[in-house]
Formats: sequence, C-alpha cells, structure tokens
Amino acid sequence: MSHFQPWPWPRVLAHRGGGTLAPENTLAALRVGLARGFHAVEFDAMLPLDDVPVLLHDATLGRTTSLRGDVTARSAAELAACDAGGWHSVDYAGEPVPLLTQALDFCRNNAIWPNVEIKPAPGHEVRTGSAVARAVADAYVDFVRTGGDGAENVDPRVPLLSSFAPTSLQAAHSAVPKLPRAWLVDRIPTDWERTMLQLGAVSLHTNHRHLTKPRAIEIKQAGYWLLCYTVNDPQRARALLHWGVDAFCTDRIDLIGPDFASAG
Ligand code: G3P
Ligand code: MG
Repeated sequence: MSHFQPWPWPRVLAHRGGGTLAPENTLAALRVGLARGFHAVEFDAMLPLDDVPVLLHDATLGRTTSLRGDVTARSAAELAACDAGGWHSVDYAGEPVPLLTQALDFCRNNAIWPNVEIKPAPGHEVRTGSAVARAVADAYVDFVRTGGDGAENVDPRVPLLSSFAPTSLQAAHSAVPKLPRAWLVDRIPTDWERTMLQLGAVSLHTNHRHLTKPRAIEIKQAGYWLLCYTVNDPQRARALLHWGVDAFCTDRIDLIGPDFASAG
C-alpha cells in the first residue's frame, strides 16, 4: 500500500482529546482542544461488555474513572454514568466516559479530524477492531469513498484508524475495507514494511523517542505516511518535521499550537 500522496490531514493533533489540559478521552477534552484551535485529534476507542465502543485508554478503570475493575465487565451505560474527569481536576468532576459515536458526532459537527486509535482490552482485539470500524463508517458514511482504502482514495474528512494490535487492524479491514488504517509501534522493527504490506496500512505511527532520521527517510522514501507520538518539546517537534515526519500528536497543546507545522 505504498503511495506518494501528501499527508491529507492536519499535521498537529491534540493527544487524547485535549492533551494535559483536560481529562483524557472525554468530550470536555475535545472542547478544550477546539478552544485552542485544534481541528485534529487523537483518541482511544475501547469496547466494554456490550458492543458499544467508548473512549478509554486503559483496560482497567482505576486510573481515570471512579469505577474499578475491567472495562470489559461494564456496559457502556455504566461507564457513561461514572466520573471520568475528577481524577484530572475538580473542574471536570462528573465528566462521563463518552461513547465513540458521541465523540465522532462532536468531531463532525466541529470540523475536527480524528485519528481513532483502536485500543482493545487483551483478548478482545477482533471484536474491538470490528466494532470501532463499523461505528466510524456509520458516522462518516457520506464521506467514505467507494473506491477502496488506498491513500489515493482518502477523503481528508475521513478518520484514520490506528492500532498497536495488527489483529484489530485486520478485523477493522474485514468489517469496513474502505477506511484508511495505520500501524502503531513503539519501536519500528527492521522488517516494518512487510507488516505494513500485510495490513494494507497507509501510515506508520511510532514513538518519536526511538525514531532516527535515517529510518524516517527510509519510510518516506518507501511512500508511507509517518506520524509520531507523543511530542511535547517544540524543538524536538521541529526536528522531526525537518526529517520528513508528516504529523505528530502532542499533550502540550498549551506549548505547541495547531499551526506549529506551518509556522516558520
Ligand atoms: O496513537 C498514538 C498514541 O496515543 C499511542 O500511545 O498509549 O498514548 O495511546 P497511547
Ligand atoms: Mg492513543
């Protein structure tokens, strides 16, 4: 799925909705990002007990919600009734765990482009990949092109699915072949292109800490898009863009603005 189209989306994404300024993966976070001018966002989509994807990062609930235990033991309705904001600050106490469809509606209504990270609880890779892809396709049915999922056919309004779990990406592809997909890795393996081809992925997303300039050049020369997470230092962000990195997400939306990549 190698290609040489320019990256069609905004180049700076607010990580987990609003970076450090709001509780991650909430509608409040999307509002904060938007208030700072961000029209591109990354968030994590997970599947609870029922087949209704929600925005959550962890497979267990203790870190970011008032509940305890496994996400997969709770319904989406239970999660919507808990407090997913109080851990961040009193200002956000009572902020619920949103449904993926609510987040996608907010994005569509506010011209925000989302990179939806499929974040399966262990053992739930296939059902999560399928359910997230279906929810995204339903929300963007009028934008998803009929011609396929290649980079040549990407509508810039259509979300990009990404995942560390190849099985989830394959399941997403089986459920909705037309959505663009990105493979997420911490460190890029030497045989990275083999997996990209197997997955039909258009973009490689990687931890910027382990990326080297030669590897960035190699990926770009092979015709893939390249995104880095999570870049919080403006100097490092500048260097990565100089290497040819197409886009990055940041937690420091107070330090790095949405126009950072186009500003001098
Ligand atoms: O999608 C990029 C980044 O969010 C991956 O890491 O753990 O923050 O979801 P994590
Ligand atoms: Mg993520």
